[in-house]
Amino acid sequence: MVNGPNLGTLGVREPEIYGSVTLPQVHELCRSWGAEVQLEVDTYQSNHEGELIDRLLTADFDGVVINPGALTHYSYALHDALLAAGKPAVEVHISDVWTRERWRRRSVVAPACVYTIYGRGVMGYHWAIRHLAFRSRMPFRTLSYGPLDDLVFDLRNTDATRLAVLVHGGFWRHQWTRDLMDGMAVDLAGRGWATANLEYRRVGRGGGWPLSVDDVERGIRAAIDAVSADQVALIGHSAGAHLALLASERLPDVGVVSLAGITDLTEELGDGAVAGFLRGADPRAASPLHRRSFENPTLLVHGTLDDRVPPHQSARFAAGPRRRLLEVPGGDHFFFLYPERGLWQEVVSEIESFVSTLR
Ligand code: DQA
Repeated sequence: MVNGPNLGTLGVREPEIYGSVTLPQVHELCRSWGAEVQLEVDTYQSNHEGELIDRLLTADFDGVVINPGALTHYSYALHDALLAAGKPAVEVHISDVWTRERWRRRSVVAPACVYTIYGRGVMGYHWAIRHLAFRSRMPFRTLSYGPLDDLVFDLRNTDATRLAVLVHGGFWRHQWTRDLMDGMAVDLAGRGWATANLEYRRVGRGGGWPLSVDDVERGIRAAIDAVSADQVALIGHSAGAHLALLASERLPDVGVVSLAGITDLTEELGDGAVAGFLRGADPRAASPLHRRSFENPTLLVHGTLDDRVPPHQSARFAAGPRRRLLEVPGGDHFFFLYPERGLWQEVVSEIESFVSTLR
């Protein structure tokens, strides 16, 4: 893990932007986050471009998580060093570089990186480490379903006869992307599923109601075309479950698995996320709970300890026909994203038996 100029002052530097955690604390966290996914994390920080380059060219490593600081925006030398190192690099920015000064939107190192994460605070390092770990476990191909960078999905294990299309959450916000579902994608692929881990346009980068739903529907159709599967399940988490449920209205043959799903947008959630998604539109029209046109077999899974999306969001929707509710005692909002932590392993067998009932 490599941090560039000024990141040594984390915790002190502009805490309203970068938070109060110090770099040594981040390093410690990263070592434990790495251990969870069997990665040994070595850390390095320098304020000097040449030293960063020397380190990239001489160190022995399998992949790198790099926050190049301001060098992001102009260091072609760092871009070239990442290419020369020849190892997968994940670019991380603690702050939301997309909504700050315009010049921070441009990254000259991004083309030398396999993935970019920003705007998630120091948790960005957590997700970057996990992305590196999971991408190394099983090969995948990224296919486009439209002319924009966000209209893609990662395909794994395409020879399988059942397909899971995964739709990530993050309250529809742009800084949350499909790496959230990497663990689930790899776990399901290991169980003999083809998986398509879908990206779509999100609020802040062109998405919102109803465009994000249209993207998801198009992506699902493209994934179904790319894999000749006998059974298809749509698996969405949180806001991704909301999008999956809505998209499924026009995909009558598809079963839906809603994990900690949002079904009712008349309730405000995620600190203004619902209002940001709707931008003045009618919440009932955008709520699976209040629409009448759901025929698809649906399994709703919700942890009893979920403090982000209340369990009643699933329970109320489950009252309709062809729907089943599975409450997971002790489950929080995020356990679905951590296949290595056990609770997921209990739930996944229920998902598999639900899918086996689909035609
Ligand atoms: C940063 C964003 C850069 O624009 C800035 O120059 C930094 C930190 C971040 O982590 O948000 O130094 O990379």
